[in-house]
Order: sequence, then C-alpha cells, then structure tokens
Amino acid sequence: MLARNMPSNPHTNASLDSVLAELKAAAAVPFAEARPLPAALNHSTAFLEHERQAVFEREWICVGREDEIPAHGDYLTHEIAGVPVLVVRQQDQEIIAFVNACAHRFACLEPAERGSRKRFTCRYHAWTYDCAGALLRAPYMEMKDGFDPAEHRLRRLHCCSWEGFVYVSIAHDPQKFLPEVLAPLREQVVGRYDMACYRSVMRERMEWNANWKNLMENFIESYHVPIAHGKTFAQHNKPLQDYVCGEDSEHYCYHRAPQAATSGSGAAHPNNHRLDGEWRRMMVDFCVFPNHLVTLMPDYLWYISVQPLGTDRMQATWGLAVPPEVLDDVDAAGYDRWLDEFRRYMDIANDEDKVLVEALHRGSASALLPAGTYHPIERNLWQFNNYLARVCARERPRAGD
Ligand code: FES
Ligand SMILES: [Fe+2]
Repeated sequence: MLARNMPSNPHTNASLDSVLAELKAAAAVPFAEARPLPAALNHSTAFLEHERQAVFEREWICVGREDEIPAHGDYLTHEIAGVPVLVVRQQDQEIIAFVNACAHRFACLEPAERGSRKRFTCRYHAWTYDCAGALLRAPYMEMKDGFDPAEHRLRRLHCCSWEGFVYVSIAHDPQKFLPEVLAPLREQVVGRYDMACYRSVMRERMEWNANWKNLMENFIESYHVPIAHGKTFAQHNKPLQDYVCGEDSEHYCYHRAPQAATSGSGAAHPNNHRLDGEWRRMMVDFCVFPNHLVTLMPDYLWYISVQPLGTDRMQATWGLAVPPEVLDDVDAAGYDRWLDEFRRYMDIANDEDKVLVEALHRGSASALLPAGTYHPIERNLWQFNNYLARVCARERPRAGD
C-alpha cells in the first residue's frame, strides 16, 4: 500500500514519534481549545505505515451491505490494508469472509468486485473451492503422496453485520464486537430508521488525491454544507444552529439536524411508519470508526468506506440505499431513469466535495500554517482525532498474530 512516487513535502519524512506526540497533544485539549488534525498526520509516510498496522489491521472495516449479496454464492471483494478479501453468502444465509487468495500458491482467487458463484476456481491451476472455502478439486494433486484436500482451505476472516452493513476484520482476534459497541448509537439514534430494510441501488468506487483522513474530516462536519453544496445537500435547508453533535464515544461519532420541509427529498415517505415527529425530516451523519461514513435520511442513505492508497491518495467505496416505500413508487419502466438522476445528483455532490478534500491535503502540506480552530458543530472532528490518538498509541500486534 505504500505508494507510488509520492511527491514529498515538509511533513513526508516526519518521524513516527514526532507525529504520535503531536496527535497525543492535540487529543489532550478540550474541544473548546482544540485545533485541527496535525498536518503531519496526513503526510508522514511513517505514520501511514503505523496506521495501517494500528488501525486497518485491527479494526472492523465496512465492505458493503448485506442485501448486495442476497443469495447463496453471491459475493463481494474488497481489500483491507493490502489483504484481498472475499465475502460470500452461504446456503444457510450466513455471510462469511476469506482472504481472497488461493490455498495453493496464493494467487488472487476472485478478481471481480462482485458476482455470484457456487464454486470459486483459481485461474492458475484450477483448484476449486465451495462457497464455504473447502477445497473440492485440485487437479493432479493425487500425484503427491499424502495430499489431503481437507488441509487446504481458504483462510477465514472475522465478519459481522450491523444494521444491514457488512464488516470484516483481518485481525486475528478483534478487540471488540461491533454490534455491542454500537448499541448506544442504534438504540438512541439510528435504530428507528431500520437501515437494514433500505435496499441497495448503487455501488461505486472513486479515487482522489488526498489522504483518507481528509475525506473523513470533510464528511464528519456539516459546517461546509451550506457553502459548498449549493447544487445538492444545501437545498435540504438545515440552519447550522439546529445541528446537534452526539456524545463522545470510543467507537463512533455523529451529528444530526432536522430539515424544514416535511415532505419531498429528505423527508419520510407517507408510507414510512417507522419514524415519528421531527425524526421524519431528520438527517443523521455518523461515522463508525475508523472509516465507515453514513449520511442517513428518512428517504435514503449514502455510505462510504474510505481507505488509504498512500499518504496522498485514497479510495472510497460508496453506495446508496433507499427504504422500500420509496422504491415502491419507482415503476419498472422508470427505474433506470430514476437511478441515472440519483447518480447524477451524487456525482455533483462528490465533485463538490472532491475539490475541498484535495484542498485540505494540498494546503496542509505546508510546514508554515496558522493555528487553526474548529466551529462548534465540528466536534466530530475532535472526536475522530481522539479516536485516532487512542488506537495509534496502543500496542501493535500484526494481523494474524
Ligand atoms: S495458485 Fe491457485 S491453483 Fe495454483
Ligand atoms: Fe460535503
């Protein structure tokens, strides 16, 4: 994952000790006095390697949604900290994850991003596995004395689901059980929406010239929305004074605000009987640490799973899902046009954000910067900073240890 020919800047060679010290100091102050993420965090190659080990090899990473793989043999592929991942729906409906590498000589097994198969056959020597990772066939291996197919399975990874999202951890022993640590977020805030009933309608990937945390910084504050999203989200008209930032948590952060309009985009459909009162026009922007971002609305949700490709390059896998009562209003003949319009809207919103995210990376490359500060509704950034400080300070067992 350590990059291509990255251009250097004054922070590129910052030592891990110095970056960790800055991170710790930034997290030690109360929010009222807090300053933005130390610039070196998004430029130091030593820190990039450290966060791969301390964050991406340890934590739960969102790879998509359960309803993207509804039937036996449906699969998604992903990559976490350089580990190719294959997630497959089983006959009994369980979803399990594997390292997407053949048990013979480790060729990447399934190249497609998604699809459906009852057997996975390696392109190299045709070793063939069932959906549960068992080796069914290994051509000519009867020529090897004592070869036992049962000893050669795909390597399993930890996998769990929460509110319709699928998460994988490449850690040998993940420290936390995600549904348990996210229970307060579900019970107090997002559970009422029943995100698991939302149906996925789009899945995309994009790469921008920025650090993955620049996108995190951008997504977890809505201060920029009225200014930067004139063609899209600003039209939901939510005064900044109405935003509420959620409690400090070790596992997530969120902010929320109701829009004025009680019908139309951003409001609950009349057939939505899950939401009451102002929740029928409430947007919740939340983040499951480290990198799963969701804008949750009564009439759709937009999620992103963002990962580093270098200090100066990030990849975002994102998708859209809508609740069933909204989808019921879209007739089959008009579905493609409806989806095209939705995609165009999201493309515009992403373009509005891309220039900001890349600007964060470019500006923070400077060694000479003003002190910086946060607006009161940017508390989620300070919460994310504190999360990073905590996980980056802990010991670092390697994946699989
Ligand atoms: S590497 Fe997959 S069958 Fe040989
Ligand atoms: Fe934005």
